[in-house]
Amino acid sequence: MFRTEIIEKFGQVPTPLYYYDLDLLNATISRCLLEAGRYGFHLHYALKANSNPKILQIISANGMGADCVSGNEVRAALENGFPADQIVFAGVGKTDDELRLALKHGIQSINVESIQEMEVINGLCESMGLKSPISLRLIPNVDAHTHRYITTGLEENKFGILPWQFDSVLEKLRSLEKLELKGLHFHIGSQITDLDVFKSLCERVNEINAWFIEQGYLTDIINVGGGLGVDYGKPDKCSIPDFESYFRIFGDLIELQGRQQLHFEPGRAVVAQCGSLITRVLFVKEAVNTRFAIVDAGMNDLIRPALYQSYHKIENLTSTGEKRKYDVVGPVCESSDCFGKSVVMPETLRGDLLAIRSTGAYGQTMASRYNLRDLAAELYSDEI
Ligand code: LLP
Repeated sequence: MFRTEIIEKFGQVPTPLYYYDLDLLNATISRCLLEAGRYGFHLHYALKANSNPKILQIISANGMGADCVSGNEVRAALENGFPADQIVFAGVGKTDDELRLALKHGIQSINVESIQEMEVINGLCESMGLKSPISLRLIPNVDAHTHRYITTGLEENKFGILPWQFDSVLEKLRSLEKLELKGLHFHIGSQITDLDVFKSLCERVNEINAWFIEQGYLTDIINVGGGLGVDYGKPDKCSIPDFESYFRIFGDLIELQGRQQLHFEPGRAVVAQCGSLITRVLFVKEAVNTRFAIVDAGMNDLIRPALYQSYHKIENLTSTGEKRKYDVVGPVCESSDCFGKSVVMPETLRGDLLAIRSTGAYGQTMASRYNLRDLAAELYSDEI
């Protein structure tokens, strides 16, 4: 993936640095749209995975809609080419200002997560003199078999409306005149690699959809969220996720009624593999039972390994020496600031450049300035 001129460029610019391969991004988007297009499915890219303007502009130019979880994400979507009527807005804790922004711009749907939120939106609509299309985010109680921090479709999670509340939600809906029920929304978790999970999701969605239709609510939209995982172990061999199998499951199993349309909210699957965090080795330190490669990127630049114990492949781009094992760690004052343990790399020296792979999703968007560190810069393949 890293041609010589790219590595030379890394050598000339300050690190740490997020590098994005736009050819791979474009190829991934095309495949995703192609496979979804076979079934007439609609896509809303989840901005939380990566909201760099350049990346958003490429995705919106290809015709995807947007899935947002904050007022600022709604703003970023609008500013970077996503049409308002293709934007959905979810989240358990939306402020009144964020809701007003969404209402003002007439987005496709506010994905509502509680009865109280329905009342608040109805009240805002009354004061603004308009009506709001909403979708109900429902808990299907399907286990995503992923890390517990990114599991969202179970009764114990804070997201969405519980099955035993469905009756009272509909009763409430009948009394709130400013709300128009447009869709049913589900999202069960992220980095899902066992595709059978999506089969279980389809079964539950069919049951819940049938129940709503029985109650007299045939919604235009069924939105099954995101969650398709990527292969962190093989960023080059499996650079594009298996969209074909993923969408086929829904094409085969989801039972849409009347003019219902199926919508998705992929985030990670679109952007993870096109990004790498490029970092320089500052020091190599011998320690008890190990050897530390101390790099200039920290957990503030990429928190996934510390937060979810997640694996990212790490490569030395500049050394061809004999293979040895290193714990690759950052400079932040926390022992959790570790990108990988016992990483096998050619002999690694001060000044070497390392690539921490598959960091296009939930890398830059989750960065912080902890320890008052600067935020990592970014570099795109079309700038080389
Ligand atoms: N839709 C909703 C309502 C979501 O909450 C999410 C992700 C997505 C779509 C996109 O899911 P994806 O296709 O990217 O799996 N920071 C974590 C991931 C958190 C995901 C939160 N919700 C990580 O780094 O693994």
